Amino acid sequence: MTNWKEIDQYAKSWVREAGERIRASFATSLSIQTKSNPNDLVTNMDKETEQFFISKIKEMYPEHRILGEEGFGHDVKDTEGIIWIIDPIDGTMNFVHQQRNFAISIGIYENGTGMVGLIYDVVHDELYHAKKGEGAYMDETPLQKLDRREVSESIIGINATWVTENRRIDPAVLAPLVRSARGTRSYGSAALEFAYVASGRLDCYITMRLAPWDFAAGLILLEEVGGKATTMDGEPINTIGKNSILAARDGLHQEILETYLKKS
Ligand code: IPD
Ligand code: CA
Ligand code: CA
Ligand code: CA
Repeated sequence: MTNWKEIDQYAKSWVREAGERIRASFATSLSIQTKSNPNDLVTNMDKETEQFFISKIKEMYPEHRILGEEGFGHDVKDTEGIIWIIDPIDGTMNFVHQQRNFAISIGIYENGTGMVGLIYDVVHDELYHAKKGEGAYMDETPLQKLDRREVSESIIGINATWVTENRRIDPAVLAPLVRSARGTRSYGSAALEFAYVASGRLDCYITMRLAPWDFAAGLILLEEVGGKATTMDGEPINTIGKNSILAARDGLHQEILETYLKKS
């Protein structure tokens, strides 16, 4: 039997230790590089933090696999066994430009089922965490089950890109939703945006393309508070692939899907 309590405890202590290292890095100078385009940033701290987790996991759980954004883990092509899905710094642009609004995100899955989710807001020292079937928390405070809310009273997390000309969605699809909502916000860290939906600070988060490390932990948190996440087509999310994401309170998820996103 897998000892999830132990795995959860180790994961939490490693996340806090990694957070401490990242905070300490503010006093040093970063090495910043670009990846797929000039706005896609990566720093030595993204890489070092991923390597830190990998060395801890390999030492304690050599049979577990690791899927990390910076590519130091395994080439994961199926969901078999225990997989740690790691974003060492989610919101690197914020990390570089703002030194805030970024998080460490770790989702641990067993045969495709989310078991432990951790999202650590490093600068605020706030750890959002959930274990399957045991509820979700921010530090010691339990997160409440999400009640229903209509679009007109909702704050939607969405990046302005998706209501301008872009390659993935006609801006006319999301514009009516943006107009009908009480307000919109964009934080620049998918993991934090998931944590905010789970904790009720946002009512919905919409984005056209995320990787597993961006949503792995968030899905587990959201499930524990009765929220719902699918692709923008209402399909189940492939946890080891790229997906569009509609994450929201339960009834709101349905309202947005049916009223704003339904294909004619
Ligand atoms: C990015 C952030 C951002 C989202 C991007 C992600 P990164 O992650 O979560 O908010 O819009 O799609 O790639 O690269 O900073 O880990
Ligand atoms: Ca990145
Ligand atoms: Ca990310
Ligand atoms: Ca990242």
